[in-house]
Amino acid sequence: MNTILITGTNRGIGLELVNQYADNNWRVFACCRSPENAPALQKLADENSNISVHALDVSDSQQITALASELKNTPIDILFNNAGIYGPYDANFGNTNEQEWLACFRINTLSPMKMSEAFVKHVASSQLKTIATMSSKMGSMSDNGSGGSYLYRSSKAAVNAVMTSMAIDLKPQGIKVAILHPGWVKTDMGGPNGEINTVKCVLQLQKTLSTLSLDNSGGFFDIDGTIIPW
Ligand SMILES: NC(=O)c1ccc[n+]([C@@H]2O[C@H](COP(=O)([O-])OP(=O)(O)OC[C@H]3O[C@@H](n4cnc5c(N)ncnc54)[C@H](OP(=O)(O)O)[C@@H]3O)[C@@H](O)[C@H]2O)c1
Repeated sequence: MNTILITGTNRGIGLELVNQYADNNWRVFACCRSPENAPALQKLADENSNISVHALDVSDSQQITALASELKNTPIDILFNNAGIYGPYDANFGNTNEQEWLACFRINTLSPMKMSEAFVKHVASSQLKTIATMSSKMGSMSDNGSGGSYLYRSSKAAVNAVMTSMAIDLKPQGIKVAILHPGWVKTDMGGPNGEINTVKCVLQLQKTLSTLSLDNSGGFFDIDGTIIPW
């Protein structure tokens, strides 16, 4: 049975990742900040014994280390860094707040690194040896035609740099790294005008991950599997 650990699973894309991987008979370690306030996730876990729910604020390094040690000797085929924040929607030129910017960097950039460092042995001992990180096309310089969104764009561009190095550094261990854009998805973050729903998004993400190899490791994949220019 394959295993996946996913962050930020109480709502949005993370919740649907749990749903589909568990349905496909994967063992799912579903992490969220407050399991006691995650009714949709708890319902999935009640209905499917493949799912276990774990408290994890990805900005808390001690919680990350504690979970890695709780799951010691458990192979993890896919470590999925999904949790993310957008920050204030009006973080435009002349209106950027340092604390809010640092919070974006902590959650969107540093946390995927800290998670990967903490769980690298779990991933290395698995069959699929995959680290997937949810980035965004908004982190692409080439794609930036509208400006603004300084906090989100910079934190996702930075996580792309982090994951590019990681793909190189972990290749000798056979670990593959995927940098993913999930499309514009109807979630709290994406809003009601998103182009796709979470079900379609996760189907596509799974398809892309199934094509991941050491040769295309470190790629920045669009939701249709094509490569996004940096
Ligand atoms: N939706 C889109 O169109 C879109 C586009 C491009 C990229 N993305 C990326 O896709 C990922 C998922 O986005 P989404 O649309 O599903 O967003 P969402 O509906 O806003 O969900 C975000 C998830 O991240 C969790 N999270 C935030 N901070 C956390 C922390 N410190 N520790 C643990 N969990 C934390 C949230 O938990 P709480 O409920 O506890 O806050 C929630 O479960 C994000 O990385 C996002 O940047 C989304």
